[in-house]
Amino acid sequence: MTDAPHRAGGVPLSIMKTELRGRTVLITGGTSGIGRALAEELDRRGNTVIVCGQRTDRLAELRERHPGIAVHQCDLALDDHRQRLADQLAKEFPSLDMVVNNAGIQLRSDVSRPIDPARLRAETDVNLIAPTHLTSLLAGQLAGSRVPPSSTSPRHWRSRRWSRWLTTAPPRPPYTP
Ligand SMILES: NC(=O)c1ccc[n+]([C@@H]2O[C@H](COP(=O)([O-])OP(=O)(O)OC[C@H]3O[C@@H](n4cnc5c(N)ncnc54)[C@H](OP(=O)(O)O)[C@@H]3O)[C@@H](O)[C@H]2O)c1
Repeated sequence: MTDAPHRAGGVPLSIMKTELRGRTVLITGGTSGIGRALAEELDRRGNTVIVCGQRTDRLAELRERHPGIAVHQCDLALDDHRQRLADQLAKEFPSLDMVVNNAGIQLRSDVSRPIDPARLRAETDVNLIAPTHLTSLLAGQLAGSRVPPSSTSPRHWRSRRWSRWLTTAPPRPPYTP
C-alpha cells in the first residue's frame, strides 16, 4: 500500500470512503499472508490492531516485531475460543470498530475419491461458522462504530449505525445463471 489516501498497491481506492486511521481493528489470521500485511499496514497508519491466530510462535514473532499490535491466541474452529476472544475484546477493546474475518484454510481434496467428511467440517468450521459466529458475538460492540460493514457499496455508507443495515437489508435476488 502507498501513503496516498485513495490508492493501495496501485489499485485506486476512490470508493473507499472510510479513513483507516485511529480505528480499532481485529484481524483474524493476521499472523501470515494477507492478514499479516494488512495488520502491519494498519498498525503503521496509527490504528489499534488486534491479531488472532492459532500458533503461539507466530503470534510471539509478530508481537516482537510490532509491539503495538495486540495478539490473542485462539483456534477459531472452537466455539469456546471464539467466545473467549469476544469476552476479552469487550473488556480490553470496548471501542472495536472493525473485524476483518481473514483467517481461513483450504484443505486439498480429491473429489474423485471419497472424502473424509471430517475434513470438510474442519474447513466449514473455520471458513464459514467462525466468521459468522464471531461477527455475531461482536455485533454489539461494532454497532457503536461509524465504520460501515463494507466499503464497496454506497448504500451502506449512508448508515451511521451499520447494525441497522444488518437487520433491514432485503434478501439478495435469486441466482440466475
Ligand atoms: N492466498 C490466496 O491466494 C487466497 C485466495 C483466495 C482466498 N484466500 C483466503 O484469504 C485468507 C488469507 O489467505 P492467506 O493466503 O493470507 O492465508 P495464510 O497465509 O494461510 O494465513 C492464514 C491465517 O489464518 C490463521 N488461521 C487458520 N486457521 C485458523 C484457526 N482455526 N484459528 C485461528 N486462526 C487460524 C492462520 O494462523 P495459524 O498459522 O496460527 O493457524 C494464519 O494467520 C484466507 O481466508 C484464504 O482462504 C486466499
